[in-house]
Amino acid sequence: MSNKLFTKNEIIDILKDDSKNEWLFSLADKIRQENVGDAVHLRGLVEFSNICKCSCKYCGLRTENKKIERYRILKDEILQIVSDAVNLGYKTIVLQSGEDGYYSCEKIVEIIKAIKDFDVALTLSVGERCYEDYKAFKDAGADRYLIRIETTDRDLYAKMHPYADFDNRIRCLKDLKTLGYEVGTGCLVGLPNQTIESLADDILFFSEIQADMVGIGPFIPHPETPLKNEKTGSFILALKVMALTRIMLPDINIPATTAMETLNPDGRIIALKSGANVVMPNITKTQYRAKYEIYPNKICLNDSPDKCRGCIGAKIKSIGRYVASNYGFSHNNG
Ligand code: SAM
Ligand code: SF4
Ligand code: FES
Repeated sequence: MSNKLFTKNEIIDILKDDSKNEWLFSLADKIRQENVGDAVHLRGLVEFSNICKCSCKYCGLRTENKKIERYRILKDEILQIVSDAVNLGYKTIVLQSGEDGYYSCEKIVEIIKAIKDFDVALTLSVGERCYEDYKAFKDAGADRYLIRIETTDRDLYAKMHPYADFDNRIRCLKDLKTLGYEVGTGCLVGLPNQTIESLADDILFFSEIQADMVGIGPFIPHPETPLKNEKTGSFILALKVMALTRIMLPDINIPATTAMETLNPDGRIIALKSGANVVMPNITKTQYRAKYEIYPNKICLNDSPDKCRGCIGAKIKSIGRYVASNYGFSHNNG
Protein backbone atom coordinates (compact mmCIF):
# COMPACT_ATOMS: atom_id res chain seq x y z
CA MET A 1 0.00 0.00 0.00
CA SER A 2 1.33 3.44 -0.77
CA ASN A 3 0.45 6.47 1.26
CA LYS A 4 0.59 9.73 -0.66
CA LEU A 5 1.22 11.73 2.48
CA PHE A 6 3.57 14.28 0.93
CA THR A 7 3.51 16.03 -2.44
CA LYS A 8 6.69 16.38 -4.48
CA ASN A 9 7.11 19.97 -3.30
CA GLU A 10 6.71 18.94 0.33
CA ILE A 11 9.32 16.19 -0.13
CA ILE A 12 11.71 18.73 -1.65
CA ASP A 13 11.15 21.15 1.25
CA ILE A 14 11.81 18.41 3.80
CA LEU A 15 14.97 17.27 2.00
CA LYS A 16 16.28 20.84 1.83
CA ASP A 17 15.51 21.82 5.43
CA ASP A 18 17.56 20.13 8.15
CA SER A 19 15.77 21.85 11.01
CA LYS A 20 12.99 19.22 11.06
CA ASN A 21 15.19 16.13 10.85
CA GLU A 22 14.36 14.81 14.33
CA TRP A 23 10.62 15.11 13.59
CA LEU A 24 11.13 13.29 10.25
CA PHE A 25 13.15 10.42 11.73
CA SER A 26 10.70 9.85 14.61
CA LEU A 27 7.70 9.97 12.28
CA ALA A 28 9.35 7.34 10.03
CA ASP A 29 10.16 5.23 13.12
CA LYS A 30 6.54 5.43 14.31
CA ILE A 31 5.19 4.48 10.87
CA ARG A 32 7.64 1.56 10.71
CA GLN A 33 6.51 0.38 14.14
CA GLU A 34 2.79 0.63 13.29
CA ASN A 35 3.08 -1.07 9.91
CA VAL A 36 5.84 -3.69 10.08
CA GLY A 37 6.45 -3.94 13.82
CA ASP A 38 9.65 -4.31 15.82
CA ALA A 39 11.02 -7.39 14.05
CA VAL A 40 14.23 -6.98 12.06
CA HIS A 41 14.63 -9.34 9.12
CA LEU A 42 18.14 -10.58 8.40
CA ARG A 43 19.01 -11.38 4.80
CA GLY A 44 22.32 -13.23 4.41
CA LEU A 45 24.25 -11.73 1.49
CA VAL A 46 26.52 -13.94 -0.67
CA GLU A 47 28.73 -11.88 -2.99
CA PHE A 48 29.42 -14.76 -5.34
CA SER A 49 31.24 -13.05 -8.24
CA ASN A 50 32.96 -9.69 -8.59
CA ILE A 51 33.30 -10.07 -12.37
CA CYS A 52 31.26 -7.48 -14.23
CA LYS A 53 30.87 -6.46 -17.84
CA CYS A 54 29.34 -3.10 -16.94
CA SER A 55 30.94 0.32 -16.63
CA CYS A 56 28.88 2.04 -13.92
CA LYS A 57 31.04 5.06 -13.19
CA TYR A 58 30.66 4.84 -9.42
CA CYS A 59 31.41 1.15 -8.88
CA GLY A 60 34.74 -0.44 -8.02
CA LEU A 61 33.72 -3.65 -9.80
CA ARG A 62 33.32 -1.90 -13.18
CA THR A 63 34.97 -3.78 -15.99
CA GLU A 64 37.60 -1.05 -16.54
CA ASN A 65 39.07 -1.55 -13.04
CA LYS A 66 42.07 -3.77 -13.72
CA LYS A 67 43.41 -3.39 -10.20
CA ILE A 68 41.06 -5.76 -8.41
CA GLU A 69 41.60 -9.48 -8.33
CA ARG A 70 38.49 -11.07 -9.77
CA TYR A 71 36.83 -14.20 -8.36
CA ARG A 72 33.88 -16.49 -8.90
CA ILE A 73 32.34 -18.77 -6.29
CA LEU A 74 30.93 -21.89 -7.92
CA LYS A 75 27.79 -23.84 -7.04
CA ASP A 76 29.22 -26.27 -4.46
CA GLU A 77 30.92 -23.54 -2.47
CA ILE A 78 27.79 -21.34 -2.65
CA LEU A 79 25.79 -24.24 -1.20
CA GLN A 80 28.30 -24.68 1.60
CA ILE A 81 28.00 -20.96 2.43
CA VAL A 82 24.20 -21.23 2.38
CA SER A 83 24.24 -24.31 4.60
CA ASP A 84 26.42 -22.51 7.17
CA ALA A 85 24.10 -19.49 7.04
CA VAL A 86 21.02 -21.66 7.60
CA ASN A 87 22.78 -23.10 10.66
CA LEU A 88 23.24 -19.52 11.90
CA GLY A 89 19.45 -19.05 11.60
CA TYR A 90 19.16 -17.14 8.31
CA LYS A 91 15.74 -17.44 6.62
CA THR A 92 16.61 -15.46 3.49
CA ILE A 93 19.63 -15.77 1.24
CA VAL A 94 20.58 -13.01 -1.19
CA LEU A 95 22.77 -13.98 -4.15
CA GLN A 96 24.56 -10.92 -5.50
CA SER A 97 27.19 -10.46 -8.20
CA GLY A 98 28.48 -8.27 -10.97
CA GLU A 99 26.98 -8.87 -14.40
CA ASP A 100 29.05 -11.99 -15.03
CA GLY A 101 28.20 -13.85 -18.26
CA TYR A 102 29.71 -17.08 -16.91
CA TYR A 103 26.52 -17.64 -14.91
CA SER A 104 24.19 -18.61 -17.74
CA CYS A 105 20.46 -18.92 -17.14
CA GLU A 106 20.90 -22.70 -16.72
CA LYS A 107 23.70 -22.31 -14.16
CA ILE A 108 21.69 -19.84 -12.07
CA VAL A 109 18.60 -22.08 -12.27
CA GLU A 110 20.63 -25.03 -10.94
CA ILE A 111 21.94 -22.93 -8.06
CA ILE A 112 18.43 -21.61 -7.24
CA LYS A 113 16.95 -25.13 -7.13
CA ALA A 114 19.71 -26.39 -4.85
CA ILE A 115 19.36 -23.43 -2.49
CA LYS A 116 15.58 -23.82 -2.29
CA ASP A 117 16.15 -27.33 -0.86
CA PHE A 118 17.30 -25.53 2.30
CA ASP A 119 13.82 -24.10 2.89
CA VAL A 120 14.86 -20.45 2.71
CA ALA A 121 13.49 -17.45 0.85
CA LEU A 122 15.80 -16.54 -2.01
CA THR A 123 16.61 -13.10 -3.39
CA LEU A 124 18.62 -12.55 -6.56
CA SER A 125 20.64 -9.45 -7.38
CA VAL A 126 22.48 -10.29 -10.59
CA GLY A 127 21.59 -7.30 -12.74
CA GLU A 128 19.79 -6.81 -16.03
CA ARG A 129 18.57 -10.00 -17.74
CA CYS A 130 15.93 -10.80 -20.35
CA TYR A 131 12.31 -11.68 -19.47
CA GLU A 132 12.93 -15.37 -20.23
CA ASP A 133 15.81 -15.57 -17.73
CA TYR A 134 13.78 -13.81 -15.04
CA LYS A 135 10.92 -16.24 -15.74
CA ALA A 136 13.22 -19.27 -15.51
CA PHE A 137 14.65 -17.99 -12.19
CA LYS A 138 11.14 -17.48 -10.80
CA ASP A 139 9.98 -20.91 -11.98
CA ALA A 140 13.06 -22.42 -10.29
CA GLY A 141 11.97 -20.91 -6.98
CA ALA A 142 13.50 -17.41 -6.65
CA ASP A 143 11.23 -15.24 -4.50
CA ARG A 144 12.66 -11.74 -4.74
CA TYR A 145 14.86 -9.64 -7.00
CA LEU A 146 16.89 -6.54 -6.20
CA ILE A 147 17.75 -4.08 -8.92
CA ARG A 148 18.14 -0.46 -7.95
CA ILE A 149 17.07 2.19 -10.42
CA GLU A 150 20.09 4.12 -8.98
CA THR A 151 18.57 7.46 -10.14
CA THR A 152 15.37 8.38 -11.98
CA ASP A 153 17.10 11.38 -13.60
CA ARG A 154 17.55 10.11 -17.18
CA ASP A 155 20.41 12.46 -18.01
CA LEU A 156 22.29 11.60 -14.85
CA TYR A 157 21.56 7.90 -15.43
CA ALA A 158 23.10 8.15 -18.91
CA LYS A 159 26.19 9.91 -17.54
CA MET A 160 26.67 7.32 -14.79
CA HIS A 161 26.10 4.31 -17.07
CA PRO A 162 27.89 5.02 -20.36
CA TYR A 163 26.69 1.94 -22.28
CA ALA A 164 23.46 1.17 -20.45
CA ASP A 165 19.87 2.10 -21.21
CA PHE A 166 17.54 3.61 -18.61
CA ASP A 167 14.51 2.17 -20.38
CA ASN A 168 15.94 -1.32 -20.11
CA ARG A 169 16.37 -0.86 -16.36
CA ILE A 170 12.68 0.09 -16.16
CA ARG A 171 11.80 -2.88 -18.37
CA CYS A 172 13.60 -5.17 -15.92
CA LEU A 173 11.63 -3.80 -12.97
CA LYS A 174 8.33 -4.17 -14.85
CA ASP A 175 9.11 -7.72 -15.99
CA LEU A 176 10.01 -8.72 -12.44
CA LYS A 177 6.78 -7.27 -11.10
CA THR A 178 4.75 -9.02 -13.84
CA LEU A 179 6.41 -12.33 -13.00
CA GLY A 180 5.31 -12.05 -9.37
CA TYR A 181 8.65 -11.39 -7.70
CA GLU A 182 8.86 -9.25 -4.61
CA VAL A 183 10.76 -6.42 -6.23
CA GLY A 184 13.47 -4.46 -4.50
CA THR A 185 14.85 -1.25 -5.94
CA GLY A 186 16.49 1.89 -4.61
CA CYS A 187 18.85 4.72 -5.36
CA LEU A 188 22.23 6.19 -4.67
CA VAL A 189 22.30 9.49 -2.79
CA GLY A 190 25.00 12.04 -3.53
CA LEU A 191 25.95 11.20 -7.11
CA PRO A 192 27.75 14.12 -8.78
CA ASN A 193 25.20 16.69 -10.08
CA GLN A 194 22.26 14.82 -8.57
CA THR A 195 19.54 17.28 -7.53
CA ILE A 196 17.20 17.26 -4.55
CA GLU A 197 14.32 17.42 -7.07
CA SER A 198 15.48 14.17 -8.65
CA LEU A 199 15.72 12.50 -5.22
CA ALA A 200 12.08 13.50 -4.66
CA ASP A 201 11.27 11.90 -8.03
CA ASP A 202 13.12 8.74 -6.90
CA ILE A 203 10.88 8.48 -3.82
CA LEU A 204 7.73 8.99 -5.92
CA PHE A 205 9.00 6.39 -8.39
CA PHE A 206 9.31 3.77 -5.61
CA SER A 207 5.67 4.37 -4.81
CA GLU A 208 4.59 4.40 -8.47
CA ILE A 209 6.13 1.00 -9.25
CA GLN A 210 4.84 -0.42 -5.95
CA ALA A 211 8.24 -1.56 -4.79
CA ASP A 212 8.26 -4.25 -2.10
CA MET A 213 11.69 -3.28 -0.88
CA VAL A 214 13.75 -0.11 -1.23
CA GLY A 215 17.46 0.21 -0.41
CA ILE A 216 18.99 3.68 -0.16
CA GLY A 217 22.76 4.04 -0.14
CA PRO A 218 25.02 7.08 0.05
CA PHE A 219 27.44 7.28 -2.87
CA ILE A 220 31.02 6.54 -1.75
CA PRO A 221 33.76 7.39 -4.29
CA HIS A 222 36.06 4.54 -5.26
CA PRO A 223 39.70 5.46 -6.08
CA GLU A 224 39.81 3.28 -9.22
CA THR A 225 36.78 4.89 -10.89
CA PRO A 226 36.22 8.09 -12.88
CA LEU A 227 34.39 9.51 -9.83
CA LYS A 228 37.38 9.14 -7.52
CA ASN A 229 37.67 12.89 -6.83
CA GLU A 230 33.97 13.49 -6.27
CA LYS A 231 32.42 14.25 -2.88
CA THR A 232 31.13 11.42 -0.70
CA GLY A 233 27.32 11.37 -0.40
CA SER A 234 25.81 12.70 2.81
CA PHE A 235 24.81 10.14 5.43
CA ILE A 236 22.06 12.43 6.74
CA LEU A 237 20.61 13.09 3.29
CA ALA A 238 20.55 9.34 2.56
CA LEU A 239 18.83 8.79 5.93
CA LYS A 240 16.25 11.45 5.06
CA VAL A 241 15.50 9.85 1.67
CA MET A 242 15.10 6.52 3.50
CA ALA A 243 12.81 8.00 6.19
CA LEU A 244 10.63 9.68 3.54
CA THR A 245 10.43 6.38 1.65
CA ARG A 246 9.10 4.71 4.82
CA ILE A 247 6.49 7.44 5.24
CA MET A 248 5.37 7.22 1.61
CA LEU A 249 5.43 3.38 1.50
CA PRO A 250 4.55 2.39 5.08
CA ASP A 251 4.48 -1.40 4.78
CA ILE A 252 7.46 -2.25 2.58
CA ASN A 253 10.82 -3.71 3.62
CA ILE A 254 13.61 -1.16 4.00
CA PRO A 255 17.20 -2.21 4.74
CA ALA A 256 19.63 -0.32 6.93
CA THR A 257 22.35 -0.39 4.28
CA THR A 258 26.00 -1.37 4.60
CA ALA A 259 27.00 1.88 2.86
CA MET A 260 25.33 3.82 5.68
CA GLU A 261 27.40 1.95 8.27
CA THR A 262 30.52 2.57 6.18
CA LEU A 263 29.99 6.33 6.61
CA ASN A 264 28.85 6.22 10.23
CA PRO A 265 29.90 3.51 12.74
CA ASP A 266 26.32 3.41 14.09
CA GLY A 267 24.76 3.86 10.65
CA ARG A 268 22.64 0.72 10.61
CA ILE A 269 21.28 1.25 14.12
CA ILE A 270 20.45 4.88 13.32
CA ALA A 271 18.73 3.69 10.13
CA LEU A 272 16.75 1.02 12.06
CA LYS A 273 15.52 3.82 14.34
CA SER A 274 14.56 6.02 11.35
CA GLY A 275 12.34 3.69 9.32
CA ALA A 276 14.40 0.60 8.40
CA ASN A 277 13.35 -2.98 9.30
CA VAL A 278 15.89 -5.14 7.44
CA VAL A 279 19.65 -5.75 7.66
CA MET A 280 21.69 -7.67 5.08
CA PRO A 281 24.73 -9.09 6.90
CA ASN A 282 27.52 -10.43 4.76
CA ILE A 283 27.74 -14.25 4.75
CA THR A 284 30.48 -14.43 2.12
CA LYS A 285 33.62 -16.22 3.35
CA THR A 286 36.22 -13.80 4.73
CA GLN A 287 38.76 -14.64 1.99
CA TYR A 288 36.57 -13.08 -0.73
CA ARG A 289 35.23 -10.03 1.09
CA ALA A 290 37.98 -7.51 0.34
CA LYS A 291 37.72 -8.33 -3.36
CA TYR A 292 34.06 -7.28 -3.55
CA GLU A 293 35.13 -3.68 -3.17
CA ILE A 294 32.28 -1.69 -4.72
CA TYR A 295 33.46 1.26 -2.60
CA PRO A 296 36.36 1.67 -0.15
CA ASN A 297 36.35 0.96 3.61
CA LYS A 298 33.40 -1.41 3.39
CA ILE A 299 32.57 -2.84 6.80
CA CYS A 300 33.21 -6.42 7.98
CA LEU A 301 36.01 -7.15 5.48
CA ASN A 302 38.01 -9.19 7.99
CA ASP A 303 35.03 -10.71 9.78
CA SER A 304 33.42 -14.12 9.44
CA PRO A 305 29.74 -14.96 8.86
CA ASP A 306 29.24 -16.07 12.48
CA LYS A 307 30.99 -12.97 13.86
CA CYS A 308 28.66 -10.73 11.78
CA ARG A 309 25.59 -12.70 12.85
CA GLY A 310 26.48 -12.30 16.53
CA CYS A 311 27.43 -8.64 16.11
CA ILE A 312 24.26 -7.57 14.35
CA GLY A 313 22.05 -9.67 16.65
CA ALA A 314 23.50 -7.87 19.69
CA LYS A 315 23.09 -4.44 18.08
CA ILE A 316 19.43 -5.14 17.25
CA LYS A 317 18.78 -6.31 20.81
CA SER A 318 20.48 -3.22 22.24
CA ILE A 319 17.73 -1.00 20.77
CA GLY A 320 14.86 -3.15 22.04
CA ARG A 321 14.16 -4.81 18.70
CA TYR A 322 14.40 -8.52 17.83
CA VAL A 323 15.51 -10.71 14.93
CA ALA A 324 12.50 -12.09 13.06
CA SER A 325 12.07 -15.84 12.98
CA ASN A 326 9.89 -15.91 9.83
CA TYR A 327 10.76 -15.38 6.16
CA GLY A 328 9.84 -11.71 6.19
CA PHE A 329 7.80 -11.57 3.02
CA SER A 330 6.57 -8.15 2.00
CA HIS A 331 3.43 -6.74 3.60
CA ASN A 332 2.88 -4.76 0.42
CA ASN A 333 -0.02 -6.41 -1.34
CA GLY A 334 -0.98 -3.35 -3.33
N1 SAM B 1 25.50 -5.81 -10.38
C1 SAM B 1 24.24 -5.74 -9.73
C2 SAM B 1 23.58 -4.39 -9.96
O1 SAM B 1 24.28 -3.45 -10.29
O2 SAM B 1 22.36 -4.32 -9.80
C3 SAM B 1 24.34 -6.02 -8.23
C4 SAM B 1 25.62 -5.66 -7.55
S1 SAM B 1 25.95 -3.91 -7.39
C5 SAM B 1 27.55 -3.91 -6.67
C6 SAM B 1 24.90 -3.48 -5.99
C7 SAM B 1 24.73 -2.01 -5.70
O3 SAM B 1 25.97 -1.45 -5.28
C8 SAM B 1 24.33 -1.13 -6.86
O4 SAM B 1 22.94 -1.17 -7.08
C9 SAM B 1 24.83 0.26 -6.43
O5 SAM B 1 23.77 1.08 -5.98
C10 SAM B 1 25.79 -0.05 -5.27
N2 SAM B 1 27.08 0.63 -5.45
C11 SAM B 1 27.98 0.43 -6.43
N3 SAM B 1 29.01 1.31 -6.32
C12 SAM B 1 28.76 2.09 -5.23
C13 SAM B 1 29.45 3.18 -4.62
N4 SAM B 1 30.58 3.65 -5.09
N5 SAM B 1 28.88 3.73 -3.51
C14 SAM B 1 27.72 3.25 -3.00
N6 SAM B 1 27.03 2.22 -3.54
C15 SAM B 1 27.53 1.65 -4.66
FE1 SF4 C 1 28.60 -4.07 -12.24
FE2 SF4 C 1 26.57 -3.73 -10.51
FE3 SF4 C 1 28.96 -2.51 -10.15
FE4 SF4 C 1 27.40 -1.70 -12.15
S1 SF4 C 1 26.93 -1.57 -9.94
S2 SF4 C 1 29.63 -2.10 -12.28
S3 SF4 C 1 26.46 -3.64 -12.77
S4 SF4 C 1 28.56 -4.69 -10.08
FE1 FES D 1 30.02 -7.77 10.56
FE2 FES D 1 29.38 -6.30 12.81
S1 FES D 1 28.07 -6.97 11.16
S2 FES D 1 31.24 -7.45 12.36
